[in-house]
Amino acid sequence: VSLKALNTFGLPATARRLARIREDADVRRVLDSPEVGRAAKLVLGGGSNLVLTRDVDEVVLKVEVGGLRLVQTRDDAFIVEAGAGLTWHDVVTETIARGWPGLENLALIPGTVGAAPVQNIGAYGLEMADRFDSLDGVDLVTGLGITLNRAQCLFGYRDSVFKNVLAGKAIITRVRFRLPRPWQPVLGYLELERKVAETGIAEPSPRQVHDWICGIRRAKLPDPAVIGNAGSFFKNPIVSEDQCRDIIGRDPHVVHYPMADGTFKLAAGWLIDACGWKGKSIGRAGVYEKQALVLVNRGDAIGAEVVTLAKAIQESVYGRFGIRLEPEPVVL
Ligand code: EPU
Repeated sequence: VSLKALNTFGLPATARRLARIREDADVRRVLDSPEVGRAAKLVLGGGSNLVLTRDVDEVVLKVEVGGLRLVQTRDDAFIVEAGAGLTWHDVVTETIARGWPGLENLALIPGTVGAAPVQNIGAYGLEMADRFDSLDGVDLVTGLGITLNRAQCLFGYRDSVFKNVLAGKAIITRVRFRLPRPWQPVLGYLELERKVAETGIAEPSPRQVHDWICGIRRAKLPDPAVIGNAGSFFKNPIVSEDQCRDIIGRDPHVVHYPMADGTFKLAAGWLIDACGWKGKSIGRAGVYEKQALVLVNRGDAIGAEVVTLAKAIQESVYGRFGIRLEPEPVVL
């Protein structure tokens, strides 16, 4: 099976076996199968957080669980359940349309519902963890159903238990969101404050916030359907106050944000840009012209070219700023 159309970078790779998972029982059928039951598994959602550098020997579990429903109306929140195979952006739009707003700041993030908790997607002042209730999945060793609450998911910045102890060991099939009532917009992010000022709309509707976010993203992020990419390629590094001072000494313009715990978050895009990478390419892999944090496929790139480019960027950022950039997507 070709995986080229199943990863947003559009990288070529094949899988020997691919099983479509439409319900929990489909997972158990794979696990019970004498041929592939005990083989290693690769869970694939929208393929938006993946760099394929080789063919896949693992059995690919392509998550296609659907369904979107209100499971509970509480005084302080709507609890909404979505199938892991649904496209993330469609769920954002549909929940707003049905009167259950709260995910609008995360509009247009590529990928599926099931992938959202894995790296705790976040944008424009909101993380998925802020709207998370619980999720269901299946243990890939025992075949038993599992339910995890927010604390059990160990969410961090682009991080969760699914990237660590449960990596490759569980498949997410349904996610429940806790959407607070009454709804309140999250407008603290600089680009959203600008929209409020520009338009004079001080009390935007959920739909309005959604549309602003879509506009902001379209202006600087490439649409994976047009130019292959996996969103931000590196995480924004977190450094101590001492390290931050050292870097400001190297370049006083470095973009940095103070965190609640006294550390600082640096803008990886700025660091890469400062090293002159914006718009550059190595082979058929390139750095997006409008946002240096996004690596793109300039056409028929292979995974190795993306990795070569990523390493070259890491080296120059390390050489100039002493910072080791960590990739955000999973490199396989
Ligand atoms: N910057 C540059 N040059 C660049 C890119 C950025 O100087 O080429 C500067 C910007 O001017 C800005 C700062 O770096 O001052 C930060 O840039 P931006 O606000 O665009 O956000 P980001 O740090 O690049 C993060 C997330 C995005 C998310 C946006 C908005 C990470 C790794 N990325 O990007 O998430 O959409 O904030 O909240 O945390 C993703 O994870 O795939 C993703 C797109």
